[in-house]
Amino acid sequence: MTATVLPPDQPVTPAGFDSRAFRNALGCFATGVAVVTAQGPDGALMGLTINSFSSVSLEPPLVLWSLATSSPNLEGFQRASHYAVNILALEQEALSNHFATRQEDKFSSIPWTPGLGGAPLLPGCHASFQIRNEFHYPGGDHLIFVGHVERFEANPGIPPLLFHGGRYRQLQA
Ligand SMILES: Cc1cc2nc3c(=O)[nH]c(=O)nc-3n(C[C@H](O)[C@H](O)[C@H](O)COP(=O)(O)O)c2cc1C
Repeated sequence: MTATVLPPDQPVTPAGFDSRAFRNALGCFATGVAVVTAQGPDGALMGLTINSFSSVSLEPPLVLWSLATSSPNLEGFQRASHYAVNILALEQEALSNHFATRQEDKFSSIPWTPGLGGAPLLPGCHASFQIRNEFHYPGGDHLIFVGHVERFEANPGIPPLLFHGGRYRQLQA
């Protein structure tokens, strides 16, 4: 019998694995919704809706998020000095849909101010983190970004937008 050796950097989806059911199961994990933004080295602004944001470390202050390797902005995000994670408020559902839709220029029609490294900060968010772009790790069809938080702001009085089961949700008091 011949042993099959798989290269460690190329995980394979086993035959019969139900990818749709897997996706639905992942949707059981309730998250917030964020828009991650950056200014590339060429000055171009980038932004997309994510829910892969997570805390990593308190000391040093590290966070992570992941970006699809199919993203046209993969290289831009990798090369940006900083990125901002804008944690969306309940009333910003339209902004979530705006940044989850591919379009040429996502910033000319909305208000924003430049943060560290030129990364756009969106007003009215539940919280925001300004992050130095530090480490990148392969994660299958995504690239995992781990960064160092340099500034942050929290507005607990503004209710957050949540995501669960493929739908937007809200906190119940
Ligand atoms: C709630 C929600 C969460 C998302 N999370 C991620 C994510 O963590 N990483 C990612 O690459 N795309 C994520 N997406 C998909 C992107 O927002 C979407 O593909 C977007 O169009 C990418 O921007 P682009 O088209 O300008 O590349 C998410 C979308 C939604 C609605």
